[in-house]
Amino acid sequence: MLPDPLHTRLCDSLGMKLPIVCFTHCREVAVAATRAGCFAVLGEALRSMDEIERDIRWVREQIGSGFGIDLVLPARAPRDATPEEIYAEIPQTHLDFAEGIEARFEVPAPTNEVVLRKWGGNNKKIARAQIEMVLDEGVPVIATGLGAPDFLFDEAKARGIKMIALVGATRQALAQVERGADMVVAQGYDAAGHTGGVGTFSIVPEIAAKLPDVPVMAAGGITTGRHLAASLCLGAAGVWTGTAWLASQESDLDPLVKERILAADGAETTRSASISGKTMRVLRCPWTDVWDGEEAPQLLQSPYQMLLTSRYLQGANDARRPDLMTEAVGQGVRFVREERPVAAIAQEMAKQARDVLQGFRSG
Ligand SMILES: Cc1cc2nc3c(=O)[nH]c(=O)nc-3n(C[C@H](O)[C@H](O)[C@H](O)COP(=O)(O)O)c2cc1C
Repeated sequence: MLPDPLHTRLCDSLGMKLPIVCFTHCREVAVAATRAGCFAVLGEALRSMDEIERDIRWVREQIGSGFGIDLVLPARAPRDATPEEIYAEIPQTHLDFAEGIEARFEVPAPTNEVVLRKWGGNNKKIARAQIEMVLDEGVPVIATGLGAPDFLFDEAKARGIKMIALVGATRQALAQVERGADMVVAQGYDAAGHTGGVGTFSIVPEIAAKLPDVPVMAAGGITTGRHLAASLCLGAAGVWTGTAWLASQESDLDPLVKERILAADGAETTRSASISGKTMRVLRCPWTDVWDGEEAPQLLQSPYQMLLTSRYLQGANDARRPDLMTEAVGQGVRFVREERPVAAIAQEMAKQARDVLQGFRSG
């Protein structure tokens, strides 16, 4: 019997049946994806220490220790100022411009705690506390976007934790492996969230060829089995996926945003630095449109731009105004057409990929 084309070295490295990593902020999705044969990585970048501890323990109770945690931390640790102190340094021109958007689109003031202010990238102390929580909880796999400080890599390596680095350029992939990354996510322009300017079809084979000894995952626009099969053909050992799970039945995303996702084609996403100060693919909204217009002042660096955005986003989410809300969404959203259970999404992806790959063998 021929070997299963979906059994790759990524399955051996991470201990799962399918070469699919599910990135999600929702712990119910993470558990369902693991039970469906994928490997789940839970995004905790915007969570407080208590929330991180609670999520890790809850997921571990459900599925044991086979999961990872993702933190997004810049390579250079930010200063020690509090988010409030950093916010107070934002230039008046930018505060006025942001207030203008809020007034023009009647964005209500936030009624809940402003989530973006919990980000470890805002403040050195928050970053270190998030890292220590994840290390102390003994999570076996840690993923990082935007680089991450050296001490995370050093301490993770000392404890035998596997490190996954998300990159948007080949030189970043080489640098992250040099400093100790065990696996690399080659994330193309199509992807949701922070992304570089190179398309998935170019970045994946280039990084896979340059790093033959490292399991490379393809990311960006992968929402079907055909995408999974293509990724393996490009030299990836598996796929890292986010958008595919956003509108799943288990996902705790606001149903109003799920509706927008189910109706969206890739063109409704935009790659804009207006949310965080670094290019990020999200659903278009008034904030991205106005900041990307000609009359906007120059965007601030992270974390200033992220903190500037935080009021608008929280106000939009608290008021549940779909015309204002946004979310990180990739171009593969056009294939996400139904709210389905996570297991059905994973099974269909695997079946379609197997059919395509086995078709090559028999053809
Ligand atoms: C809603 C959402 C939030 C995301 N937030 C993060 C994050 O906090 N950290 C991170 O490393 N990647 C984040 N990403 C990017 C994913 O890790 C992944 O690279 C991306 O979703 C892959 O592209 P795809 O959405 O086309 O599958 C996010 C993606 C989505 C959909």
